[in-house]
Amino acid sequence: MIEQEMDFENRIVSPDYNYTQDEAELSLRPKTLDEYIGQDKVKENLKIYITAAKQRKESLDHVLLYGPPGLGKTTLAGIIAREMGVNLRVTSGPAIEKQGDLVAILTSLQEGDVLFIDEIHRLPRNVEEILYPAMEDFSLDIIIGKGPSARSIRLDVPHFTLVGATTRSGQLTAPLRDRFGVLLRLDLYTPEQLAEIVIRSAGILSIGIERDGALEVASRSRGTPRIANRLLKRVRDIAQVEFDGVITEETAQSALRRFEIDELGLDDFDRKMLSTIITNYSGGPVGLDTLAAAIGEEAVTIEDVYEPYLMQIGFLTRTARGRCVTKLAYDHLGIDFNSDSKQQSIF
Ligand code: ADE
Repeated sequence: MIEQEMDFENRIVSPDYNYTQDEAELSLRPKTLDEYIGQDKVKENLKIYITAAKQRKESLDHVLLYGPPGLGKTTLAGIIAREMGVNLRVTSGPAIEKQGDLVAILTSLQEGDVLFIDEIHRLPRNVEEILYPAMEDFSLDIIIGKGPSARSIRLDVPHFTLVGATTRSGQLTAPLRDRFGVLLRLDLYTPEQLAEIVIRSAGILSIGIERDGALEVASRSRGTPRIANRLLKRVRDIAQVEFDGVITEETAQSALRRFEIDELGLDDFDRKMLSTIITNYSGGPVGLDTLAAAIGEEAVTIEDVYEPYLMQIGFLTRTARGRCVTKLAYDHLGIDFNSDSKQQSIF
């Protein structure tokens, strides 16, 4: 059994976004579709829908963005608002606790505004029900009073565009999902795309960086711009204090080694998760809940945060019977794939 003392909140490669902590990230966000790097299919589609809506002088249809955290869903909502020439209101599923909270937001919108709801799958069910007529007919059905004297009144709200974001569209209820006219899936970025993002960010932050240095940071960022930008800033600190300030391939490697992030971007937590499956469960299959209990992490975090990248690099597979570690991961960790631990379960 492995020890559990990882501090997930402070994990340098965590894609979790803290709205107050990471203000600097705001300045790195692209403001137009042309500035936005990667997600070419999403950009192409959005460009057409935005142009068409603007030509018709209508608000854009509701958009659902889904995919792993840290890929730029909030950024895209901001870009949509800017390209449409309207205001952006940002909130999140867990922040809206009561029906009244959502009614207050909806009634304060201006015509055409974009309302971004992050983690929309976490909206309370009774709040979600307010959204249905609002999305469909731009009206609210509000019940006033209780019992036999209760009556329903209908309120109009301005035409708005709801941009919802979720880590997995499968987590949404069918009635909510069906009310989005545009569904867009964001994929993990390639190292080359991330290198472009790192070079762009370095330019904005006046950080000297060589292309190989950017590629080194990019290839250890788990396909996620938010991680790439965070690593860039930490590597800059080391380049500044211990080298001549410019991020080269060598300074990047040296800094990332110090953060214990390996050539593929795996940190201690990833390696412990993989080695737990290998040591305790003979490489799998192991059920998600069992694994979650063994490593002391929530099942949804494992599913949304760790697994997408480990699957993308071919280290982990999801099967009907549970998670399995592949030979590639054994090789990466330096564990013999055909050793006794593979053949012989300890249970
Ligand atoms: N910063 C974060 N995500 C980005 C993206 N997709 N393009 C450009 N800069 C970014």
